[in-house]
Amino acid sequence: MKPENINEIVGSDRNHLWHHLVQHKPWQQSDPMVIVEGKGMRVTDHNGREYLDAVSGGVWTVNVGYGRESIANAVRDQILKMCYFANSAGNIPGAQFAEKLIDKMPGMSRVYYSNSGSEANEKGFKLVRQLAAMKNGGKKHKIIYRDRDYHGTTITTLSAGGQAQRKDQYGPFTPGFVEIPHCLAYRDPRGGDPDYGVQAARDLEKVILAEDPDTIGSVCLEPITAGGGVIVPPEGYWETVQEICTKYGVLIHIDEVVCGMGRTGKWFGYQHYGVKPDIVTMAKGVASGYAAISVMVTTEDLFNEFLAEPDDKMSYFRDISTFGGCAGGPAAALANMQIIEEENLLDNVNLMGDYLMDSLNALMDKHEIIGEVRGKGLFVGAELVKDRGTREPVDESIAAAVVGDCLKQGVMIGRTNRSLAKYNNTLCLSPALICTRDDIDEIVTAIDVALGNLPQ
Ligand SMILES: Cc1ncc(COP(=O)(O)O)c(C=O)c1O
Repeated sequence: MKPENINEIVGSDRNHLWHHLVQHKPWQQSDPMVIVEGKGMRVTDHNGREYLDAVSGGVWTVNVGYGRESIANAVRDQILKMCYFANSAGNIPGAQFAEKLIDKMPGMSRVYYSNSGSEANEKGFKLVRQLAAMKNGGKKHKIIYRDRDYHGTTITTLSAGGQAQRKDQYGPFTPGFVEIPHCLAYRDPRGGDPDYGVQAARDLEKVILAEDPDTIGSVCLEPITAGGGVIVPPEGYWETVQEICTKYGVLIHIDEVVCGMGRTGKWFGYQHYGVKPDIVTMAKGVASGYAAISVMVTTEDLFNEFLAEPDDKMSYFRDISTFGGCAGGPAAALANMQIIEEENLLDNVNLMGDYLMDSLNALMDKHEIIGEVRGKGLFVGAELVKDRGTREPVDESIAAAVVGDCLKQGVMIGRTNRSLAKYNNTLCLSPALICTRDDIDEIVTAIDVALGNLPQ
């Protein structure tokens, strides 16, 4: 694009766009960033400057990297042939992707399409509410969520959100959502106990008993918490959650919006822990951002609860998502899954994930400010502290300075941001599943330099 045209674009952006998650005031003096191109692990901005993207499109999305012709062709071919019909009818890639997806999720059976992670989670909440109304005299309608987890941006998914800053100023919220404590050992006085995972899960049982088990319909959890600080559940946690949910007849809803589709080295995060979910939701990596698609998957047992004779006019799932009928979404998702399989990307995630963790752990010897490195696969966080002994978190401006310095060096990294007032102090890394050792070296070197540049 000619420089004069790109200047026009930047002008239109500044004058008319309302960007997500950012304060616009600084752009009265400087240009917003416009991403013009992407190829593999790298994107180029409006000034022609190239960046190594260590956050897969900013928010854990472009899992197979930029510029994939096979996905673009699959979407193009499909939307020319049949772009859309409401999902009360089927379409060819929708059926094909459902079959392939269920193949990767033993124990699961039914696939419901919509178009964002928030929306998929809302579907999961609606299932619970309707089931309570139909089968449990309205009683098992409450939904439990966890401190530090995030399930979306709508008022109801924020009601299920454990990140106080994200919720602040947007209440009042939907009733019937109940919080349990987080399971981050590093930030729990019980965290040093070898039995901490079981103890943390027992917090769920305490809340179920306090609320009355007859009122609890489901618990909605991220398998590994993402924006709340990359929290890998401690040993024994998920197994105990499973045991408690079985005991009290509570459905398990797992939010795989970030972890799903290979990010952690298995197809789904919950598959590391042997959990048997009733509901699984996913979005971002399903089509790597090449099309907007989200999915709710349920067991056949849950699906069967909604089967009734046709003269029963209210007992089916009376829900729709207009864009859940876009055939380009599952077409992109099929091509995306094919890439992950053909290029053995799960193996690469495990290899490169270990290398990334080792490289960051090695940085701890040099930089006292890194309090803890945690993660699974290519999903890693480094929590920054003022003092390793007291674990006092650094001010969020420090984490912002590190991210800004890396950007100046041409590497995009992320951080927990406007999530938890005291704890916006974790650097977040989630490079595409295709990344190489050289890419990781470049990312870790940028962080090393940025940490070295902080005022002592
Ligand atoms: C774990 C998790 N669930 C749900 C969502 C919401 O997804 P969306 O922004 O597509 O609505 C997000 C978004 O970041 C997320 O991280």
